[in-house]
Amino acid sequence: MELLPFFLLLLIGATAVHSNEPAYPGHGATEAEPTCGLKEEAAAAAAPVPVPERREEFDGGRILDISHYYREDMPAFESAEGTPGFLRLARSMRNGSDIANFSELRLTAHSGTHVDAPGHVFEHYYDAGFDVDTLDLAVLNGPALLVDVPRDSNITADVMESLHIPKGVRRVLFRTLNTDRKLMWKKEFDASYVGFMEDGAHWLIDNTDIQLVGVDYLSVGAYEECIPAHLVFLEKREVILVEALNLEHVTAGIYTLHCLPLRLRGAEGSPARCILIK
Ligand SMILES: *[C@@H]1O[C@H](CO)[C@@H](O)[C@H](O)[C@H]1NC(C)=O
Ligand SMILES: *[C@@H]1O[C@H](CO)[C@@H](O)[C@H](O)[C@H]1NC(C)=O
Ligand SMILES: *[C@@H]1O[C@H](CO)[C@@H](O)[C@H](O)[C@H]1NC(C)=O
Repeated sequence: MELLPFFLLLLIGATAVHSNEPAYPGHGATEAEPTCGLKEEAAAAAAPVPVPERREEFDGGRILDISHYYREDMPAFESAEGTPGFLRLARSMRNGSDIANFSELRLTAHSGTHVDAPGHVFEHYYDAGFDVDTLDLAVLNGPALLVDVPRDSNITADVMESLHIPKGVRRVLFRTLNTDRKLMWKKEFDASYVGFMEDGAHWLIDNTDIQLVGVDYLSVGAYEECIPAHLVFLEKREVILVEALNLEHVTAGIYTLHCLPLRLRGAEGSPARCILIK
């Protein structure tokens, strides 16, 4: 299916672990003579290795992380394989020759919690450069409503109407049966996920002021109407789509949403870190 995203090869340096070695190579530094070392930190080397804390909430629950952490068994669109090999240590200190650990990412631009840009489903927008770097941060950040969708249906026009989303609400995160079924925790792609039907997308465009649509699985469109629903949302570049949010540990209500995709010029999708603030 044409939604199949193109592959993105990202090279990023993993943060160096503080220990008795220099922390991070500066541009142009060679392995022979590390010049950027924070040698003062060497004294910390003898201390016991601390155990990192993994959190979904920060500051006593004021900040809620609604992004999925990347992992090999995170599902990918129309794949049974998950996200294997997304992170690889390309250069390693253990080898003796490198001054830092240095990881490489290999992901589709639509992996995990991510946004879609208009170029995702429209060739003319793709060619004109409507990539993720053109998405409006004023839409991606601001007051947002988290609503529960009735669990017995995809998001049709009738369902949209029944939600009674007030005029003036610009950002809505739709929690569905996908969250109850923990679909984002199943490695194998599940085409029976809940999403928008084409008429539900039309109803949203015609009857609400929503400019950001967030959902809890890999696509806003229900599988059988996946492309039609995307076309409705992105046709006039009116809506930003945020997909594969982790909404399992939050309650319905109003929050401040912050969603920050990477500035990937030319990419029609990007992983994004999304948080809610109470
Ligand atoms: C370690 O060194 C070996 C041999 O040079 C190389 O094949 C391998 O890719 C290196 N691994 C890392 C993680 O740097
Ligand atoms: C990463 O760097 C640390 C030193 O900071 C080193 O002890 C460790 O072996 C490295 N890890 C690997 C897998 O090379
Ligand atoms: C939603 O649509 C999918 C097909 O796109 C279907 O498999 C699934 O059963 C539907 N879910 C509900 C709750 O109706």
